[in-house]
Amino acid sequence: MQLAHFRIDNPFVQAPMAGITDAPFRTISRRFHDGLIFTEMISAEALCRNNSRTMIFARMEKEHHPVAFQIVGNKVERMVTAAKMAEGMGADILDINAACPEPIILKTGSGGTLLKDPDKLADMVSQISGSIDIPVSVKLRLGYYKDESIMLARRLEEAGASFLTFHGRTVAQKFSGDSDWDALKSVVGEAGIPILANGGGLTEEKAVDLLHHTGAEGVLLGRGLRGRPDLIGTSFSLFRTGKFERMSKELLLSTIMDHARLETEYYGKDSGIKRMRKHAVWYMKAAGFPLPHREVYQLRALDELGTLLTTALAPL
Ligand SMILES: Cc1cc2nc3c(=O)[nH]c(=O)nc-3n(C[C@H](O)[C@H](O)[C@H](O)COP(=O)(O)O)c2cc1C
Repeated sequence: MQLAHFRIDNPFVQAPMAGITDAPFRTISRRFHDGLIFTEMISAEALCRNNSRTMIFARMEKEHHPVAFQIVGNKVERMVTAAKMAEGMGADILDINAACPEPIILKTGSGGTLLKDPDKLADMVSQISGSIDIPVSVKLRLGYYKDESIMLARRLEEAGASFLTFHGRTVAQKFSGDSDWDALKSVVGEAGIPILANGGGLTEEKAVDLLHHTGAEGVLLGRGLRGRPDLIGTSFSLFRTGKFERMSKELLLSTIMDHARLETEYYGKDSGIKRMRKHAVWYMKAAGFPLPHREVYQLRALDELGTLLTTALAPL
C-alpha cells in the first residue's frame, strides 16, 4: 500500500474508534502488526485548549508509528491550529473526520455535517495542507443523504488531500443497511488519489473480500477490532498465505492483563478498570469464552480481573 510517501506492506488499517482504539489499545495492537494505525477522533477544540483528558487520548508512543492522527471540528482556523499541534506531537499523517454520524458531533457542524458543505470541507483541507508538512487525508462517508463520493473525491483531491477513506454508507444511514462495496469500487476507479475502503470488514475473510471487491489501496477495519487487537495482523496473514492463527489461551490472558495494566497506567486505577471492563467482555466473547456480565461490571481491581479470566479460561 502506498499512501503519500509511506510504503506500508500491510493493506489492512486500524480504523479510528472513539473510546476503543485509545493509546493503550494502540500499544497492544502494535504487538500484532506493522500496519497503519489511526488514533480515535480528537476534538480540535479540546486539543487547542490542552484539555488534559484529550492529551491522554492523543498520546502517540514510539511504537505506535506510523500513526494517522484524526481531528474533528468545524472551525477551519481551529482545525489548522490543531493540525499543527498534531504535527508537532509527531503524527505521521493528519486525518480530518468528515464521517461521524453521532448527533452530538453533527449538531456542532463537525464530522459528517462537513459533507453538506463540500466548499467548506475543501477549504479546510486546502488550508490545513498548506500549513503542515505531513500528508493530509479525510475520512468520509459516501455523502450526507446520497452517494456523492466521486464528486467529493475530486474536490478533495484538488484541495490537496493525499488520500481518502470512504465508509460505504451515507451519514443519514448511520450504521443501518450494508456498506455499499460497489459504490466504493466506483470511487476507487474514478479517483486520482489512493482510496481506502471501509465498512463491513468485520472478520479476516470479510476484510480480504472488501479489499478484493473494491480494488482499494487498503481497507480500514473498525468494529471487528473489538476484543481483536490481532485482527489487522491475522487479516494480512490470510491475504498473503491463505491462513491465519488465532491467539492461544495463554497469549489471550497475557494480552488482556497487559491491556488492563496500560489502561490503569493511563487513566488511573479506578477509571482504568472501568474502561477495561468492556474490552474484557469483547476479548473473551471473540475467543468463545463469554464472561458473566454481572461479575465483570463489579470488577474493581486488576487481580480480580485476573481471577475472573483464569476461571473462565480453565479447561472444563
Ligand atoms: C464505537 C465506535 C466509535 C467510532 N469512532 C470513530 C472515530 O472516532 N472516528 C471515525 O472516523 N470513525 C469512527 N467510527 C467509525 C469506524 O471507524 C468505521 O468507519 C465504522 O465502524 C465502519 O467500519 P466497520 O464496519 O469495519 O466497523 C467509530 C465506530 C464505532 C462503532
